[in-house]
Amino acid sequence: QLILNTLASQGKIQDTRTLVLPGQSDAAATQDAQIAILGALNSLLSREMVTIDFHETLSHVLTQEGAQIALESSHEARVWKVLPMKGEGTPLTVQELQEAVGKESASVGQGRAFKAKWIGKEGGGFVKLVSSIEDKTQLELREVDSTGTLQAGEKALADLRKRKLIAQKKGQWFTVHKGSNFGTSIARPETDLTADMIASGSWKTSTFKKYNFEAEGIPPNGGAFHPLLKVREEIRDIFLEMGFVQFFEMPTSSFVESGFWCFDALFVPQQHPAREVQDTFYLSDPSASLPPPKKYYDRVAKVHESGGYGSLGYRAPWSDAESRKLLLRTHTTASSAAMLWKLAAKCRGEDFDEETQSVIAGEVTVAKKEDGFRPAKLFSIDRVFRNETMDATHLAEFHQVEGVVADRNLTLADLIGFMRVFFKKMGIENIRFKPAYNPYTEPSLEIFAFHPQLKKWVEVGNSGMFRPEMLEPMGFPKDVHVHGWGIGLERPTMIRYGISNIRTLVGHKVSIEGVENSPAVRF
Ligand code: PHE
Repeated sequence: QLILNTLASQGKIQDTRTLVLPGQSDAAATQDAQIAILGALNSLLSREMVTIDFHETLSHVLTQEGAQIALESSHEARVWKVLPMKGEGTPLTVQELQEAVGKESASVGQGRAFKAKWIGKEGGGFVKLVSSIEDKTQLELREVDSTGTLQAGEKALADLRKRKLIAQKKGQWFTVHKGSNFGTSIARPETDLTADMIASGSWKTSTFKKYNFEAEGIPPNGGAFHPLLKVREEIRDIFLEMGFVQFFEMPTSSFVESGFWCFDALFVPQQHPAREVQDTFYLSDPSASLPPPKKYYDRVAKVHESGGYGSLGYRAPWSDAESRKLLLRTHTTASSAAMLWKLAAKCRGEDFDEETQSVIAGEVTVAKKEDGFRPAKLFSIDRVFRNETMDATHLAEFHQVEGVVADRNLTLADLIGFMRVFFKKMGIENIRFKPAYNPYTEPSLEIFAFHPQLKKWVEVGNSGMFRPEMLEPMGFPKDVHVHGWGIGLERPTMIRYGISNIRTLVGHKVSIEGVENSPAVRF
């Protein structure tokens, strides 16, 4: 505003160093003031309210030593000050002088004080010759400090430069003229042409901010994989290394399953505690599934109620309503069951559906009996849901990694061997197996790994040989054995990334930056 007002009254500003800035008593002679003025000029320039000419100056600033002298006193004044007046005391020896003012001041100051005739020699030492002095060096430095130059002229400046008390510094000042949009009030320029402005016609008199084609754009943000996805990718690679082919990743898109596929098909008794509302999220709308494949459903109901295939069954009444309840799947074994049922299609004298065909498409070369069975290695990595009390390591949804191998005459030793290789590839060599219970596997094994940081055995997975009560109603021949196992995805991820709270990994507290910067994982 000061610039605009001055221009209005004087037509032009010849030298911006003559301006007296608001709140200041002196003219804006310093470089700091000129820099502030340049800021204002630039914003007026962008509005084309002014034009300017640039001028360069050379000014001087104090060096560190110069600043010290300006503040205290010159070396020569220091020397003079500590000496006794001629004839009034004991002269100081060179050594005494050095002790009094320091080596540097003593050597520089002594010579200059001599030359100025402030001090002289008496006996073997130094004395004052005059009772008062004017510390010219200090006065000059103070002048340079406040004006950037010396009235005494270039010779005096050159002397101070040679003594390394001042240094040259480039500066700027400006001549300011009225620009094409000159006025005394700064209207905020419009940044957008709006429909309103066109309708009202105000665009005609508005000033618009110029496009800044020099502005750097916002850096483009590429996508980044979440740590869970990186671990998932790494586990997927382990499967592929172990002979699972890409197609053998099971379709797991149905987060909502029926009690039939999640439990009944797996021979989980209908009264099993895991099915109770505490563990399973049931859907209220819709609450019941479409009917499962009729013949298979009947065989499953029968094996539960009264057994078969060499089993006694549970000998408890079968509930169709229980079987048809819709729920959020509590394990991916629901998908494995559906996939195994599809895999057994040929054994039942049916054809593979399109999806199954694509999942188990690989040409499998084994001695085929005429029962239609094809061996398969299937795996999946996807989300499951359980009504758990949430804490630092538990959420109501998490991921399971699940593998299923179906072949003739598989044994528990195959499962154990498989597990050892798999976990070794995950960096876990020290594993143990503990007999456990799953309604759908017999025998069942929990897998424990020794945690080197926690220094104890922790459960890392659950596995087993699927029961005949589950496999035979699907249509598999008796000599086909299937082993399966499941592990969590979150726990190995947390260990890999040193995360102790699950909320750092999943949910709204996840930091995008953390995701972008997290390294790739390698087991
Ligand atoms: N479904 C089991 C679980 O959720 C894992 C499992 C899969 C066990 C397959 C045995 C066979 O823990």
